[in-house]
Amino acid sequence: CRLVVLISGSGSNLQAFIDKAGDADHPFEVCAVISNKADAFGLERARKAGIATAVVDHKAFDGRDSFDAALMAQIDQFKPDLVILAGFMRILTGGFTRHYLGRLLNIHPSLLPKYPGLNTHQRAIDAGDDKAGCTVHFVTEELDGGPPVLQASVAIEADDSASALAGRILHCEHVIYPLAAAWFAEGRLRLDGDNSLLDGKALP
Ligand code: GRF
Repeated sequence: CRLVVLISGSGSNLQAFIDKAGDADHPFEVCAVISNKADAFGLERARKAGIATAVVDHKAFDGRDSFDAALMAQIDQFKPDLVILAGFMRILTGGFTRHYLGRLLNIHPSLLPKYPGLNTHQRAIDAGDDKAGCTVHFVTEELDGGPPVLQASVAIEADDSASALAGRILHCEHVIYPLAAAWFAEGRLRLDGDNSLLDGKALP
């Protein structure tokens, strides 16, 4: 299963994919890493692993449609089976999400449907939640709104800070995101219409 990973920053999730790629339990390869920022540290991680890299700088385009068109052209050169959003900090157009529907995953640092958008850890603490976590989901046009695939949760401690909580959740991300991609690679996971996934069985 050929993966293309999109990043904007540190790329610690990318590193988890690189580390697990080709394991018996993770039958995928990372074919390319594409960033909208030339200085994203994740590009260094990719180069070190001998993976092709590309930069599509959103600032060089006059709107989301032209940026997404260029991004799609770049992605499709690598003929991926699955596209992985791993800290890719751009909102994608409907044209983009429809083009990759069913073969585009994201990870979001909250227990969706709680806290789509930014600042998720602080919002969970401020709300007095007793747990927080992360969600792998198929990407649709709705921001952080596509069908969830897999979640991991951690307890929120009495004196928790957003950064400490984020660190514990990030550790979970590095486990569940490659796992969800492995399920996809094994043909165990598919998007089969609205709110239907996992072997075509509708969720309640
Ligand atoms: C993670 O918190 C992920 O949930 C969010 O962006 C962050 C990416 O971190 N979508 P990294 O670049 O993988 O280290």
